[in-house]
Amino acid sequence: MWCRDFAQTSAVARVDGEVVGFVTGFIRPDASDTIVVWQIAVDASQRGGGVAGKLLSHLLDRVVPRGVRYLETTITPDNTASIKLFSALARDRGAELVSSELFTAELFPDAHLGEDLYRIGPFAAAPAAAGGA
Ligand SMILES: CC(C)(COP(=O)(O)OP(=O)(O)OC[C@H]1O[C@@H](n2cnc3c(N)ncnc32)[C@H](O)[C@@H]1OP(=O)(O)O)[C@@H](O)C(=O)NCCC(=O)NCCS
Repeated sequence: MWCRDFAQTSAVARVDGEVVGFVTGFIRPDASDTIVVWQIAVDASQRGGGVAGKLLSHLLDRVVPRGVRYLETTITPDNTASIKLFSALARDRGAELVSSELFTAELFPDAHLGEDLYRIGPFAAAPAAAGGA
């Protein structure tokens, strides 16, 4: 169902034909300028090689021309790799990153850390024009 309905905002990464990573996302129903990254994961054998960064970059290159200016995701405070990934995205796109508490730990029935909201943007509508006057 996900691949049928959210293919435009999801992608897989392949190395030598093998799927080694994926990202799933959706445009917020109440905010068409915002893509939410629901899940992103890279096979342990490929981590640290830039696969996740490329997946996010590819996704943004697809949706920014459609009017998306912000990316949102939730991250638990212990997920250093994910925090670094999204921080690097903001840095590389020259965008602001704002984090805030979204779902506190008490909202989860089991032992689960709170989920912080990371909001990155605004993304430029198009790359700045090269050259001078
Ligand atoms: C989070 C995850 C997707 C990152 O994938 P990845 O392909 O290894 O990430 P990249 O190689 O593209 O790295 C992107 C940036 O994050 C940094 N980074 C990635 N993993 C890191 C780690 N464990 N510690 C510190 N920095 C890390 C990289 O150095 C890079 O930053 P840079 O541009 O400043 O060098 C991967 O660790 C993973 O699959 N984790 C398990 C699933 C998960 O927790 N997903 C997120 C919640 S849905």
